[in-house]
Amino acid sequence: MNNMKILVTGGLGFIGSHTVVELQQAGFEVVIIDNCSNSSENVLEGIKAITGQTPEFVKMDLRDKNAVGEFFSAHQDISGVIHFAASKAVGESVEKPLLYYENNLNTLVYILQQLSGLKSANFIFSSSCTVYGQADQMPITEEAPVKPAESPYGNTKQIGEEIIRDSCRVYSQLKAISLRYFNPIGAHPSAEIGELPIGVPQNLVPFITQTGVGLREQLSVFGDDYPTEDGTCIRDYIHVVDLAKAHVVALQRLLEDKNDTNYEVFNIGTGTGSSVLEVINSFERVAGKELNYKVVDRRPGDVIRAYADTDKANKVLGWKAQSTLDHAMASAWKWEQKIRE
Ligand code: WQD
Repeated sequence: MNNMKILVTGGLGFIGSHTVVELQQAGFEVVIIDNCSNSSENVLEGIKAITGQTPEFVKMDLRDKNAVGEFFSAHQDISGVIHFAASKAVGESVEKPLLYYENNLNTLVYILQQLSGLKSANFIFSSSCTVYGQADQMPITEEAPVKPAESPYGNTKQIGEEIIRDSCRVYSQLKAISLRYFNPIGAHPSAEIGELPIGVPQNLVPFITQTGVGLREQLSVFGDDYPTEDGTCIRDYIHVVDLAKAHVVALQRLLEDKNDTNYEVFNIGTGTGSSVLEVINSFERVAGKELNYKVVDRRPGDVIRAYADTDKANKVLGWKAQSTLDHAMASAWKWEQKIRE
């Protein structure tokens, strides 16, 4: 795989930057496209601090169809594409659906149009367990039915998967894998890169660590009257480095033509569910301090429980999450303290 060049769109983002590090450490050359709408160019320094290599970076908006075409004309040596670039705030997508449909779908189509013109193309898509909605059975397998999306964001992931599936059916030289992430948390152990939420964090773990450093007064726990053991919702929290490694394994599967069909889907999680209170307890254990929180009303749209059946990723992809919740939480806490120094 040495020196093969991989395009990572959204490569300055949370999951993207961690994947760039793992790609470089697996011997790939990386070129990043990012419009920096939800990320910072400084992340390049963090990547270099870890791997010693600064990836090629092209600041570009993938909604510009001509720019996408010009990029691929100038980069004919790309062996694969990992596509992270998208808007991802569930709540914002409800307020601004057209922004989400344009940014998450037009850009996907423009990239696939370029790939469909190549002799062979390898494509990894950033999807989400949100496509399952509230699944009927736990743990959730890839065969669980895709349910009507609860938000335009979730709908863009469902439609995105269908666009890829339909493209792979017509363009046999296009090989693709969709990775359905559960809940990515944590940061690189070096604390050189991590999550940089803009404004008030919507997700649980960054809100916890920001409360831990005193940036936030108190965490609101959105409901403790759910039909679960402690009354709070259950999710599958996966260390972002484990998730990043899954992308490298999936890409290698395509590059080595090991895929069974030219479109495959894998759940990427730990296979273990944790409640909100268990996550809070994990923080208190690793930080050695109490967290200030209070229980408030439920958040509309939250599913009660979602955690992955990871059999397919373990057996077919040959990938398994290594980190525990405490290990992931400790990396998140180390990162939060570092960026607040
Ligand atoms: C987890 C749990 C909340 C914040 C979302 C998207 C998903 C993916 C990951 C992009 C829930 C509770 C949260 C808080 C709380 N995003 N919570 N207080 O909703 O499972 O998934 O982010 O791909 O697509 O849907 O993650 O971290 O927002 O919530 O009590 O301040 O924490 O109710 O039970 P979620 P989350």
